[in-house]
Amino acid sequence: MSISGERQICDLLIEHASELLACQAYGNGAVRGPDLAKLEVIEDGAVAVTDGRIVAVGTTAQLAARFDARRRIDATGRLVSPGLVDPHTHLVHAGHRETEWEGRVTGRSRPGLERGIMATVRATRAARTAELRSRALADLDTMLAYGTTTAEAKSGYGLDTDTELRLLEITAGLNHPVELAVTYLGAHVLPPEFAADRSAYVDLVIGFLPEARVYAEYCDICCDPVGFTPDECRRIAAVATEYGFRLRVHGDQTGDGDGAALAAEIGAASIDHLDSVSAEGLARLAASDTVGVILPGVTHHMLEATPGLAEDGGTAPALFSDRPSWARRLVDSGAALALSTDYNPGTCATLSMQAVMQLAARLYRLTYAEIWHMATINAAAALNRADRVGSLEPGKQADLVIWDVSTHGLLINRFGTNLAHRVIKKGNIVTRDGA
Ligand code: NIG
Ligand code: FE
Repeated sequence: MSISGERQICDLLIEHASELLACQAYGNGAVRGPDLAKLEVIEDGAVAVTDGRIVAVGTTAQLAARFDARRRIDATGRLVSPGLVDPHTHLVHAGHRETEWEGRVTGRSRPGLERGIMATVRATRAARTAELRSRALADLDTMLAYGTTTAEAKSGYGLDTDTELRLLEITAGLNHPVELAVTYLGAHVLPPEFAADRSAYVDLVIGFLPEARVYAEYCDICCDPVGFTPDECRRIAAVATEYGFRLRVHGDQTGDGDGAALAAEIGAASIDHLDSVSAEGLARLAASDTVGVILPGVTHHMLEATPGLAEDGGTAPALFSDRPSWARRLVDSGAALALSTDYNPGTCATLSMQAVMQLAARLYRLTYAEIWHMATINAAAALNRADRVGSLEPGKQADLVIWDVSTHGLLINRFGTNLAHRVIKKGNIVTRDGA
């Protein structure tokens, strides 16, 4: 509240929100441990925006006393939250793998990840640039309509320098309201052409780093039994850091690959998956600033096959009935945790963070407060953007969603329809009623 009592003019005043969630962090970066349960809910909330930035957040009465507005939005009966942040997507790719999924669903076949990934690699290598670009733009439209205003997008379905370059060029050139953090994932899996010489492929990934850096902010490395060893990852990470990349890790998905300890050691912004993280790895993660990104959409999509993914005829995979206790261990460790789709055609074919939040409750038994923090401020922290997006606080970018539900719990409780009413990016209304 201004002490002078002088009235100010703002560009936009959203008022009378039945609930307004600020999702602010309590310190720097991410919300952790017991703080995850402390979600501040402002009833009859309001937010004032000028020049695409938030200037004030409070009750409608507080803001009405301070601001005259050039434009007002009446959010009566509606929840207002920060725009959702999706910190892990394989946005640009070609083809679908619905037949593979039917095999998994019916139990007829259970291909390992490498086989599935290579199917998408073949489709992506063969696709025309215009085709890849227009599908990515359509996917971004969907993400935005569902409330995601900032996302990460990685390459990794090229696995040769020509296609990886094409994917990065396309991604960096996408002109869309969803703000993207671009990631080079050359070290996704070992392409079969290099089966006889792993280190030649690691050299190829390293040799491509300077070109990739023109387009990408992050370098992602898959430190997992299905991907690369910690030593191979260290080699890539050391050179990537010299070129100014920030690091991300896919890790401990199909088994404990020492990914969490590696991610903490190399100072990665995030380690994503963590299904098979060891107690030691989790302790290292919790003591670091690395954000653990957990992926309930993958748990859902991979059925009983996460963790312990097995090729046809392999050992029976673990049931996901243990996921709630696994998730609780992660929260209790004090690690910074975020949620994401991991949008890709194999392990999670959704663009909807709403669905992910609903699955986080259902499959991981996280609380509404935990889930909201993990899909907003903590997801922003996983992209080193918590100072700019992920919460509704004065000075931050005015990225927010007005929802067609009245409470933050209902957004997680209701499922199967798009609940976003209006999506606002940098103070502009970019979607109405899903369009
Ligand atoms: O789930 N280790 C990488 N795994 C990818 C798989 C993507 C796919 O199946 O195409 C992931 O992120
Ligand atoms: Fe992924």
